[in-house]
Amino acid sequence: MTGTVESNRSGTGVALRMTGISKSFGPVQALSDVSFTVQAGTVHALVGENGAGKSTLMKILAGVYRPDKGEIEIHEKPYTFDKPEQALTVGVSMIYQDLDLAEHLTVAENVFLGNEPAGILPFTVDYKAMANRTAELAQSFNFDIDPTAEVSQLSTGDCQVVAIIKALARKASIIVMDEPTSSLAETEVERLFEIVRRLRKSGISVVYISHRLEEIIGLADEVTVLRDGEVVHSESVTRLDIGQIVRYMVGRELTEFFPARDVKPGDIRVKINNLSSDSRIRDISFDIRSGEIVGMAGLVGAGRTEVARAIFGVDRKLSGSIVLDNEELSINSPADAISHGIAFLTEDRKRTGLCLGLACSWNVTIASLGLLGMKRIINPARENEIAADIGAQLSIKWLSPQAPVDSLSGGNQQKLLIARWLLAKSKFMIFDEPTRGIDVGAKKEVYSLLNRLAEEGKAILFISSELPELFGITDRILVMRRGRLVGNLKTVETTQEEVMHLAAVEAN
Ligand SMILES: Nc1ncnc2c1ncn2[C@@H]1O[C@H](COP(=O)(O)OP(=O)(O)OP(=O)(O)O)[C@@H](O)[C@H]1O
Ligand SMILES: [Mg+2]
Repeated sequence: MTGTVESNRSGTGVALRMTGISKSFGPVQALSDVSFTVQAGTVHALVGENGAGKSTLMKILAGVYRPDKGEIEIHEKPYTFDKPEQALTVGVSMIYQDLDLAEHLTVAENVFLGNEPAGILPFTVDYKAMANRTAELAQSFNFDIDPTAEVSQLSTGDCQVVAIIKALARKASIIVMDEPTSSLAETEVERLFEIVRRLRKSGISVVYISHRLEEIIGLADEVTVLRDGEVVHSESVTRLDIGQIVRYMVGRELTEFFPARDVKPGDIRVKINNLSSDSRIRDISFDIRSGEIVGMAGLVGAGRTEVARAIFGVDRKLSGSIVLDNEELSINSPADAISHGIAFLTEDRKRTGLCLGLACSWNVTIASLGLLGMKRIINPARENEIAADIGAQLSIKWLSPQAPVDSLSGGNQQKLLIARWLLAKSKFMIFDEPTRGIDVGAKKEVYSLLNRLAEEGKAILFISSELPELFGITDRILVMRRGRLVGNLKTVETTQEEVMHLAAVEAN
């Protein structure tokens, strides 16, 4: 590391200047000749399609990767980082999506992890100072959080606040947030925006990566667009609208975002009767016709994912039945569900979806081993061929189907999971937040795919927190609140207001 630290936080001037940054991973050129400048005390949005290079650029800034070429200046001083600790020391903090907090420690212990104030005796830690300092920081930014609470008890939004306080405790002057809102509830999103505005006011620069372009228009001062590892545009947000940003991102006009549908739902394929499970869902009943896309709305924590988990045999059912094509199914495990033709695309791809150490091809074909060969012996060439084919259909950006899943960008990992369930040729498909973390172009591809699946006569349950997409592609919308089904509405006969009202209002 070169340069010295004098004042980390200065409210004016250039906070960050990255110049001529290039980085390749083997034959993949992730970034070429990227220059990126962030003014102090501003929010700078970094946008681009999946695999455009956003996370890679920020990991270089945070000292996770070394660039092949290029310079980094922080508050006008040049640095080269060999490891994240060095970037932290000069005020660069990165808040990752999976947050990296120690679940069983308290808020204060997390804030000072690796940076603990020493106690009076040697090798001891001053817990009191830790708690006081955390409370002070929280207070000065108006965060409502208990320093002594254990992190495992906190909501995702609160965990994010802990990560931000942690950055402040390290005197961060540049805070990078990589897709911070993708797993937050609506009210938590609002709170995060407030926090980001407060950080900006105190002179801190925030680099904000998001696929939700409306957020960027409302929050950011500047926006830089990456496409295929190059900067294609950088400008003040006030001079841009969403349409223009999208054009820079994908290099063309995106029309008809929600493709027109012309499927007439057929007979009832799926009947869920009085389903209750050992998580909190109670007495859920609905049906889905062949060719029908049924949406499921609700606030975070309303029990939407739990309905899917009970159907799929992840959670134990306490009562109720599942009927598919007039046959009552006995489902006690995901393997049972898959063998009966049910697919479940989970919302949390890291924890319950992908095997990160293994090849893409393995991950794609795992739910459809029947396609791969005779007598349970897998034919690797066939596995590759199948994966390559479906990868091309979904335009998954990978070096080859043999590449490990961890080498794919976040959005491409999501596409890979969708590919898995497309291959599995299921009759009843449950998609839980399938467009989370994927770019606008890929979203449109996912909507078209759902349409195509409906045309083939499948029954589709589509769980989403984004009302516009529910209204864009579903035939009917189910609304969950506190573990119960409180609405079952024809999409053309309802409004976003009505759905939100049902999701939020407590019945007397
Ligand atoms: N560790 C790695 N090994 C190999 N290739 C990688 C690695 N990390 C990133 N890449 C590749 O570099 C490119 C840029 O990826 P990056 O994660 O920066 O994209 P991104 O813009 O953050 O996309 P997303 O919106 O999907 O998160 C992609 O082609 C990706 O596959
Ligand atoms: Mg990324």
